[in-house]
Amino acid sequence: MNYEIEKKNLIKKGAEASLNYGKWFNKEVIFKHRLPKNYRIEQLDKKIRTSRTLNEARALIKIKNYGINVPCVYEIDSEESIITMDYIHGEKLKDLIKKLNEDQLEEYFKKLGTFISILHQNGHIHGDITTSNVIITPNKELFLIDFGLHDYSDTIEDKSVDIHLLKRVLMSSHGNCFELCYKAFLEGYRSCYQSKFLEECESIISNIDIIETRGRYIKKEKRR
Ligand SMILES: Nc1ncnc2c1ncn2[C@@H]1O[C@H](COP(=O)(O)OP(=O)(O)O)[C@@H](O)[C@H]1O
Ligand SMILES: [Mg+2]
Repeated sequence: MNYEIEKKNLIKKGAEASLNYGKWFNKEVIFKHRLPKNYRIEQLDKKIRTSRTLNEARALIKIKNYGINVPCVYEIDSEESIITMDYIHGEKLKDLIKKLNEDQLEEYFKKLGTFISILHQNGHIHGDITTSNVIITPNKELFLIDFGLHDYSDTIEDKSVDIHLLKRVLMSSHGNCFELCYKAFLEGYRSCYQSKFLEECESIISNIDIIETRGRYIKKEKRR
């Protein structure tokens, strides 16, 4: 193994994985480690962790090829369930949002819209489009991270649900700039859709409102 994970460099210990900052061949990296869960049967637990690790790493590799800014994957340890990837310097959009002016907000959300549009047109669902999973670098580049819930789908429903999560996050956490950010996002999303698929694009967008009116989402909210 070429890496050493230092416990003191723990960035986040989430329910799914722990994130450590470290060095890998002199590069600044993040080690995303899916730790064993002792409430699961050992063999099953290993299978789940391995498949989620491989799914996330493969998604990152594929998506980088579309020209979308995602961390570069350096190493995949399927045995230990660790992805070694580029450490992206910058600030999470969630923390930066209150410091941005309208033009900057518009620019970043448009960009995010174009990235998600490319993902969707290629059959990828991010699965967790939140402002915590977007990093803005000091030279103003936008990076998408956290493909832990990534999936493949070509349905209008799955794509709408993907965007609907962002809409809910914007409404609940960034209410005062919701309108501007969401509008810019949709503008970017539409602008990047191939003209021959524009009908699909409009169906995805109008389906977001339909999802909202459905009981299952109301129930989900109440469950929290
Ligand atoms: N490649 C990366 N570069 C910089 N920070 C990262 C990177 N990947 C993850 N992080 C940091 O770790 C946090 C959690 O990682 P994430 O992949 O989003 O996992 P989780 O499923 O726990 O949300 C992120 O919000 C971010 O602060
Ligand atoms: Mg995350």
